[in-house]
Amino acid sequence: MDQKPTIVAVNGSPHGGIGNTSQMIGMLRPTLTQEGFDLEIINLAELDIQYCTGCAFCMEKGKCWIDDDHRGVTERLLAAQGIVLASPVYFFSVTGQMKTFLDRSLAFGHKPRSTWKPGLAISVSAGLGETDVASYLGFLLRTFGAFPVGALTAMAVQPGGFWGKEAIEARAADLARDLARAIMENRRYPATDRDLRYYQFMGDLVRSQKDTVMGHDFRHWQEHGFYEGFQAYIQQRPAESTRDPGMREAWIKDMIEQQKEKKKTQAGGETRKARAPGAIAAKTCRELLAMMPLAFNAAAAEGLSAVYQFEVQGDETFVAHLRISEGACTFHEGPADKPNLTIKTPADVWLKISRGEISGPQAFLDGRYKVEGDMNLLLKMNRLFSR
Ligand SMILES: Cc1cc2nc3c(=O)[nH]c(=O)nc-3n(C[C@H](O)[C@H](O)[C@H](O)COP(=O)(O)O)c2cc1C
Repeated sequence: MDQKPTIVAVNGSPHGGIGNTSQMIGMLRPTLTQEGFDLEIINLAELDIQYCTGCAFCMEKGKCWIDDDHRGVTERLLAAQGIVLASPVYFFSVTGQMKTFLDRSLAFGHKPRSTWKPGLAISVSAGLGETDVASYLGFLLRTFGAFPVGALTAMAVQPGGFWGKEAIEARAADLARDLARAIMENRRYPATDRDLRYYQFMGDLVRSQKDTVMGHDFRHWQEHGFYEGFQAYIQQRPAESTRDPGMREAWIKDMIEQQKEKKKTQAGGETRKARAPGAIAAKTCRELLAMMPLAFNAAAAEGLSAVYQFEVQGDETFVAHLRISEGACTFHEGPADKPNLTIKTPADVWLKISRGEISGPQAFLDGRYKVEGDMNLLLKMNRLFSR
């Protein structure tokens, strides 16, 4: 029989299986079971894990010489598909049990692992410090080759006396689902500033101490190729930039021209609303687009040949395009062969922009409509349809 994938949770509370931390870990179980996962809980309070002596043996040789329960826990964590680090707040930090466990894990802390498996951080306080502790534990997940999909935090003084227990349970279910899905889909979250800082700091430290106490650590960095750069470590690379070099220039030029036109109109005693003529009369987005050739400003389109395609969704679903060529603009139903700019918009959003009820550029920045193709054409629209 195939073994179910396992999430291993380490609980640092001295209250072990009867405390609030334990109850919070337990809140993950129903969803994890539903998603086909086993949840294994390790209560540090039940184990024999001695203090770190600070001898640096692990950095030099790769493992701790103290023979107690620590090794077994780290082996479970490294083998698990997902991991959870959980601790109540003790004096604005983790408990002594958790801290001792983490200190003893130094051999892993200096050696980034190439796994990026999903993890979770959990913390509970009586009212102060749980978000800081969860953030700390989230960072420490990397020690065991994991990254945080989120943090579950709560406040409770008495056993089980959680503030807003229903909300905590709902959040636990959401996070458990995220954890399970991230594992099943091999999902990775983007690199963070903490990943970068850790990489820079630890890489330099280990290199500088390779001939003293960090020989084993240094070989690990070299063997895994981590010194080849942050990309090699993070196994992610920056996406291709979508920046169009001419776009900024065209945008500024367009703004300046609009400003000049506005001044001219004001000097002539007129005020013009930023809305397409006919926009008020049009009841539907299709009508509006069909009327756009009436607002076409041929003077602003000198030498321009372009096709604007509209893919409208929401209240209306259709594709249409406007063809601009030889100083004229025509409306056509259906898709064009080779549109120069495609605008994908909900019908109501485009109507509101055309009526001047919302700002076009702001709606674009807010992601209310999307465009593909030549962005310069988007910037030109205001002047092209402003008769
Ligand atoms: C020694 C000690 C220190 C504590 N320090 C804090 C603290 O700094 N901030 C806080 O809000 N609660 C603090 N608490 C309260 C616990 O975080 C809180 O009772 C928590 O619910 C206990 O979780 P557990 O049942 O899983 O152990 C402390 C409790 C103890 C025993």
